[in-house]
Amino acid sequence: MTQWIIGNWKMHGLPVMAAELARAVAGVAMGLPAAVKVVVCPPATLASAVSEQLKGSRVAVGGQDCHAQAQGAFTGDISAQMLKEAGAAYVIVGHSERRQYHGETDEGIRAKAQAAISGGLIPIICVGETLDERQSGQAEDVVGRQVRECLPDGAQNAEFLLAYEPVWAIGSGAVPSLLDIQGMHHHIQSVAAEKLGIDAGSAHVLYGGSVKGANAQDILATDGVAGALVGGASLKADEFGQIMLAAKG
Ligand code: PGA
Repeated sequence: MTQWIIGNWKMHGLPVMAAELARAVAGVAMGLPAAVKVVVCPPATLASAVSEQLKGSRVAVGGQDCHAQAQGAFTGDISAQMLKEAGAAYVIVGHSERRQYHGETDEGIRAKAQAAISGGLIPIICVGETLDERQSGQAEDVVGRQVRECLPDGAQNAEFLLAYEPVWAIGSGAVPSLLDIQGMHHHIQSVAAEKLGIDAGSAHVLYGGSVKGANAQDILATDGVAGALVGGASLKADEFGQIMLAAKG
């Protein structure tokens, strides 16, 4: 069973630091089983240089966002094709920081995911509830709705990844219980199966939110977890290395 370990560098990384980190990640990835896929998502300014550096390695590159249109008068935006040409194979869409700071909606995220697929990238579609939503017992409803609305109609299993990222777990050090992670991943898989007509339990759902070297093994061994989307710890070569080594593959 494939597991993906994906580093989201967010708005971190200048050329020297990126080159060092990419070199370290590629070194660890070399020894991993083929079923473990490693991806780093540097800022768009570095996509090309990091891709060039990682050519011939076991590490793929992803973007952190893309526009829903292939081109046009959209100042500051980047299209899926641009990322692809820069060497990316994946792109994160719908990260909670984009939802929060850029007002992204489920509908807009679906359009971005569709654009990514059309442009030859694998979108990593992020979903997750806020603390309020969890505390008021709405987590499954909220996440189920996000999955239904963010998945492009007719998407095939090999064309996308989902990432369950509870908003309250991102960058906080707090992590849901393994039982909660398992329950939510199964819920996401069943909503995806129902919407897309794919086999039950077959959608690839990564977990994200405060994944570290110390908790990676337990999280990655949890049923329904197809990998990890890692923020803060992906900037530290040894932490990210530990997480990669914890993947089952
Ligand atoms: P974190 O971020 O690992 O720093 O909690 C995860 C994410 O935002 O993808």
